Amino acid sequence: MSSAIEAIDVARDYGGASALRGVSVSIEPGELFGLVGPDGAGKTTFLRILAGLLGMSAGSVRIDGIDVRSHPAQVKARIGYMSQRFSLSETLTVAENLLYVSEIWHVPEGERGKRISRLLEFSRLGPFQDRLTRNLSGGMKQKLSLCACLIHQPQILLLDEPTIGVDPVSRRDFWLILYDLMQEGSTILLSTPYMDEAERCGRVGFLLDGQLIACGSPTSLKAELHTAILDVRCADPRRARRALQHVPTLSDAVSFGEHMHITIPRSGFDPDAGLQALRGAGIDVRDWQIREPSLEDVFLSYIHRRRATAADTGGSPS
Ligand SMILES: Nc1ncnc2c1ncn2[C@@H]1O[C@H](COP(=O)(O)OP(=O)(O)OP(=O)(O)O)[C@@H](O)[C@H]1O
Ligand SMILES: [Mg+2]
Repeated sequence: MSSAIEAIDVARDYGGASALRGVSVSIEPGELFGLVGPDGAGKTTFLRILAGLLGMSAGSVRIDGIDVRSHPAQVKARIGYMSQRFSLSETLTVAENLLYVSEIWHVPEGERGKRISRLLEFSRLGPFQDRLTRNLSGGMKQKLSLCACLIHQPQILLLDEPTIGVDPVSRRDFWLILYDLMQEGSTILLSTPYMDEAERCGRVGFLLDGQLIACGSPTSLKAELHTAILDVRCADPRRARRALQHVPTLSDAVSFGEHMHITIPRSGFDPDAGLQALRGAGIDVRDWQIREPSLEDVFLSYIHRRRATAADTGGSPS
């Protein structure tokens, strides 16, 4: 059986600037894959290329074994793409918007009503079907966008930050719908800025500066790091972090509110010596613990290492 999504060495330039460089990934049918990365990392560019909406400068993409470049229409029929920006009409009602997309997709007339009812039920938007789209809450709009990209019954979903700006309760609702879709056999690739969402994915890819620099299950990504986190609560974490820049064993630190997370080796770290070094650097340690890294720690550590490499080589990393 072919992969649901297979990207090989995909690159994309805008003018002279490179937005994606050599991105390769295979996603199997039924997978839930999360794409994370900072603003401008290339997530939207990558998803649009996979959906056949944007050309690539180099590389190849196959969806269900079908080449995107040579058979764009066949690929589009298999894909549900939800864009980062809301793209439905604000002046139509919920049901009218779904009817409109069903026409665009040439859903047979006799099928339209049935499909729309099913989607409305599935997304629990039924009670709001006659509401003008501009009067929906943010979470409802996102659900409507999801319904719209399901109208032609695609098996592969590419969702670009589908829960951005949505309150936590609606976010949970949205995820329940995604789990239902998984149960029905969908393959889902979504980009997300939320680490708790990335944790729910079977695999996560981390995109930075247009490159996929890490990819694996949340558990394996954490294990690969061979590190733990020394979580220190102290008086002024930002100042403390600067004070540690010259303490080699403790220099990999980031501040979070009133905490400082210092990446340390998983084994061989001597907490007593560490605390002594912290106090030696003038840091007022109020509380501390050693714990497993979170996905966020993993990604921050990748960013940190890359910046350090870039600084050492005096240029941007490649
Ligand atoms: N049409 C365009 N013309 C020129 N540059 C572009 C264009 N679209 C994107 N870029 C650039 O390509 C890079 C990747 O952008 P992209 O939108 O794919 O990132 P992203 O990871 O989706 O970011 P965000 O999290 O903000 O949505 C950025 O540097 C962006 O400025
Ligand atoms: Mg984007």
